[in-house]
Amino acid sequence: MKYPFHVEHTEVSRLSSVDFSNLQFGKLYGDHMFVAECRKGKWTDCRIIPFGNLPFSPASSALHYGQIIFEGMKAFKNAERNALLFRPEMNFKRFNISAQRMAMPEVPLDLWLDSLHELVHMDQEWIPKEQGCSLYLRPFMFAMDRFIGVRPTEFFKFLIITSPAGLYYPKPVKVMTTAKYVRAFEGGVGFAKAAGNYGASMLPLREAIEKGFEQILWTDGNEHKYIQEIGTMNVFFVIDGVAITPELDGTILDGVTRDSVIQLLKHHGTKVEERKISIDEVFDAHQKGILQDAFGTGTAASISTISHIEHKGNMIALPPVNEIPFSVKLKDELEGIKSGALPDIFNWMVKVQSKLLVEAE
Ligand code: COI
Repeated sequence: MKYPFHVEHTEVSRLSSVDFSNLQFGKLYGDHMFVAECRKGKWTDCRIIPFGNLPFSPASSALHYGQIIFEGMKAFKNAERNALLFRPEMNFKRFNISAQRMAMPEVPLDLWLDSLHELVHMDQEWIPKEQGCSLYLRPFMFAMDRFIGVRPTEFFKFLIITSPAGLYYPKPVKVMTTAKYVRAFEGGVGFAKAAGNYGASMLPLREAIEKGFEQILWTDGNEHKYIQEIGTMNVFFVIDGVAITPELDGTILDGVTRDSVIQLLKHHGTKVEERKISIDEVFDAHQKGILQDAFGTGTAASISTISHIEHKGNMIALPPVNEIPFSVKLKDELEGIKSGALPDIFNWMVKVQSKLLVEAE
């Protein structure tokens, strides 16, 4: 291995205490985690160690200035009990795009893949078998300089933690627009998976939840006219048989699930348009009876049907789930490919393999 790994196994596994029949999202964590450091551009100290708290200085720059990025990925097990990763190189590319925007070091591909494969191999018993469940993987990196002046940083930690997880949105979601807040402008960090994007969404999200919605449907900051994304998901609308999703204009995330859904839709002969779509176009289509489906796509959320959209006090209801032509079928197909139940026609799945195990033999 290009980057030597030190491995320390947990003394007592917590696996037997997990109720896999009742998994929620983001509440439980696997036995181990991966940790590496980058000092002045040099990657060192790669370790897989028991999941636990980290000791670091309260002056660490990430705590003060939010130089933190992350990814969301999932591991699955097929019927042969092989652990599988879904498109890990797509997340690698996006992680490094985020790193570049936030003046952080890029993670080398070898390090990215080796850390994921070794960690998931070690905690593969934590991958749930239950339908709709998976082992959620959270790679993240943050600035560690013990310095509270504002300057580009030189010392970073890169970690991966794992979490056996159920559905992020167990039922169709209600979303609302807002003209009070903005998620991202051109030239900002909307395309990066930067922690601050999510921190800034907490107040609008709390207000949306208080009004009975699950999420904000973000619109552009100039006119509040064009749809961007949902914050935890990219968004698609099916109007008169055509699937429309906002173009990658630098304000939204280049979602791995978004890309996979576009490929699946095209494979089935559905026309896909990546372009500006206004909230008025969606409401007009609903009025004309040609808004057939609306759904969000994301790693955590998979494909989540939207049940209601509220804009300027007007609410529209999408057709009931048993009548919608796209999102339910697409979700079953995508989840089928991920779990190995359906053929991997796009070569998206990567079998988890341990180089450490091979080296030890
Ligand atoms: C994901 O879909 O993996 C995300 O990171 C979205 C959210 C859970 C923050």
